[in-house]
Amino acid sequence: MGIEYEVLKILLKSNDYIPGSKISSMLGVSKATVSRAIKRLTSMGFVVDVNPRLGYKLANLDDLGLAHKYIDLLNTYIKYRLYYVDLCESTQDIADSLAREGASEGTVVIAEELTKGRGRMGRKWHAARGGLWISIIFRPRVIKHMHLLSLALGVAVANTLSDTLGIDAKVKWPNDVLVNEKKIAGILIEGRAEADRMIYLIAGIGINVNNDLPNELEGYAITIKDVVKTSVPRVPILLNLLKNVDKVYRDLAEGKSYRVLDNWRKRSSTLGKLVKVVTLDGEFVGHAEDIEDDGALRVVKLDGSITKVHAGDIIHIREERA
Ligand code: BTN
Repeated sequence: MGIEYEVLKILLKSNDYIPGSKISSMLGVSKATVSRAIKRLTSMGFVVDVNPRLGYKLANLDDLGLAHKYIDLLNTYIKYRLYYVDLCESTQDIADSLAREGASEGTVVIAEELTKGRGRMGRKWHAARGGLWISIIFRPRVIKHMHLLSLALGVAVANTLSDTLGIDAKVKWPNDVLVNEKKIAGILIEGRAEADRMIYLIAGIGINVNNDLPNELEGYAITIKDVVKTSVPRVPILLNLLKNVDKVYRDLAEGKSYRVLDNWRKRSSTLGKLVKVVTLDGEFVGHAEDIEDDGALRVVKLDGSITKVHAGDIIHIREERA
């Protein structure tokens, strides 16, 4: 893990200014290394106040209502516009109404809390205060590769946690994001198509950041706060997420889906595992071998036959023996 993440952890845990000399002795590195790490954190979207006498202090950039101020600085291919609400049933519904009224691609609905958060396969999504709950409107002009959007967004979220906080995040097919085999983020794609024409897609992304999780998710889900062992400011995470979403969406729009698939393979926690596959047609066990160009999971069943799973859920059973 890069030294900047070690410095970030120290800044996150200290409520006041902390001298560079103290950070350098805590980490056993030079003051120049600390200063370079601070510069790197600044380029990653964190704001660090530098006081020549007192040292460094991390600005608590957690106010999502102010995130719109930084959006233009991202210089992205998607023109993002943020639509912030405090409380709603589901950001997916607000984004859907906005899209029906003609809202442009890149409209992002953000809420502090959802009372009826929706998950994949009709499940409920717990979205208490402190998390990142967003829905993004896409209006793809070329739809050829868009069936890979959900995999692509899983990669974007995992890369964001890794680039921004040094967290080793993995993707579980199709698009859950895991840390230590526990779910830290989920993605839900909904949309509206007419005849064979795609009108819009709404990508819902939920990331457990500083929120509390209900007891029923104990052992199954995890938050960034649990991993880093302190609360983290959400604005830098949001901005890095939007940058990474832009990158993968652009790859798909430009027909470079192989990049998304390669990055998914690199981040995968599913490939090489013995898995239980649960689909509407039933369940079976097999070895997750690879993903196909169309995003399906290739599973070798215990009898040696090969199945391509296009929709459903999987449960990781155990690591494969080498
Ligand atoms: C899943 O893993 O089941 C998908 C979870 C998606 C949750 C997000 S939170 C923001 C958006 N609004 C919703 O109601 N759901 C998605």
